[in-house]
Amino acid sequence: MVIYFISIIVFNHLSKDLTGIDVSQGMINQAKKKYKKINFLVADVIDEKNFSLTIKNKKFDLIFTKRCIQNILSQKKQLRIIKFLGSKLKKNGKLILCESSATAQKDINILRKKIGLKKITPPWHNLFFDDEKIKKTKFKNLKLLEIHPFMATFFFVTRIINAYIKNKEGKKTHYLDNHNILAKNLPQNLLSKFSQTKVYEFIKI
Ligand SMILES: C[S@@+](CC[C@H](N)C(=O)[O-])C[C@H]1O[C@@H](n2cnc3c(N)ncnc32)[C@H](O)[C@@H]1O
Repeated sequence: MVIYFISIIVFNHLSKDLTGIDVSQGMINQAKKKYKKINFLVADVIDEKNFSLTIKNKKFDLIFTKRCIQNILSQKKQLRIIKFLGSKLKKNGKLILCESSATAQKDINILRKKIGLKKITPPWHNLFFDDEKIKKTKFKNLKLLEIHPFMATFFFVTRIINAYIKNKEGKKTHYLDNHNILAKNLPQNLLSKFSQTKVYEFIKI
């Protein structure tokens, strides 16, 4: 709840010292109305110098972004921001990125194509994460612990099952029902790869 309107949250001593950051003053104004005890700052995460000044060069125990870095339309810049945010962590601090995965969207589209559904694409203002690139990149002082596909079932059901059923007419259950055929034709060991939103968990080493 606390994070709804803001893109980056940095924590010190866990919830005692909590700062919400967004490039948009409008988003911060809305968040301020709702959450009185949080310190809010306007800062652009691409502008490293100003960002550092705005947070007074402090280091944090935990930095959390939610659908923020995916708004940066260059993979090179995204990776640089991950490194930069890592530099703002204390040792053993955590960087938790809740962002969209291009890898999962590609897998969703492979299945959608198989069942005659249109390809889905990110909004024009987003560049989703390439999981393989995130895994392969060496971030200074930052280790990727895990990529959590925590919304796999949601994306599988909404983007595949429901999309398919909505696309067809529903009649009495029969073993040749569309969704039975669909279930039969899909690989049976599915799911985790369809989480279009994932949590990328890093630790400062
Ligand atoms: C899709 S919204 C997500 C808002 C909220 N975190 C959520 O998940 O509901 C993206 C947010 O990222 C912010 N944002 C985009 N680029 C940014 C940047 N360079 N620095 C800081 N915030 C940025 C936008 O202003 C916006 O509030």
